[in-house]
Amino acid sequence: MLEKDIEKVLVSENEIKEIIHRLSTEIMQDYHDKFPLFVGLLKGCVPFMSDLLKELDMHLEVAFMNVSSYHGGIESTGDVKIDMDLGTPVKGRHVLLTEDIVDTGRTINAVVDLLKYRGALSVNVVTLVDKPEGRIIDFVPRYVGIEIPKVFVVGYGLDYEERYRNLPYVGVLKPEVYSKE
Ligand code: PRP
Repeated sequence: MLEKDIEKVLVSENEIKEIIHRLSTEIMQDYHDKFPLFVGLLKGCVPFMSDLLKELDMHLEVAFMNVSSYHGGIESTGDVKIDMDLGTPVKGRHVLLTEDIVDTGRTINAVVDLLKYRGALSVNVVTLVDKPEGRIIDFVPRYVGIEIPKVFVVGYGLDYEERYRNLPYVGVLKPEVYSKE
């Protein structure tokens, strides 16, 4: 029933599998001896992080933060709010922030700055989707699954008004879904 609201599939389930295989190989090469702390930014990170972690054959630790910037709608508000902070200290740790999407760059930039301020040894970002044309703050994620154009996407963690996160792929939402509300 969700599929009828999708204009087109942008990143298919198979493409996501290939992306995760590639990213996990790169991350293992770079982090196998660093006992990294994977910090997932809730809620969008959940499907991607879950699938990525299962491909990583190395010691790592997992933690979560809940940071929001959209507060509903299809435009980021720029007001980055920490709804739930980390329960794990980052001082002296190699942190890998795990995101579903980097768009304006505001969310990730604010979190990277915060974790560096708290004493993380390094902070890098792995994102499934990168939307470079959306940037307001100059930010280049270290690991990018796929670059997409400036379209509003949902699925595989990405939501519109908290819905569609459970789609197994990333797709473009039909404009009539958000214009009729
Ligand atoms: C989304 C997404 C990123 C952020 C990207 O989170 O998960 O964290 O927006 O946008 P930006 O680069 O323009 O800051 P959202 O605030 O919608 O919360 P969610 O993860 O719970 O969906």
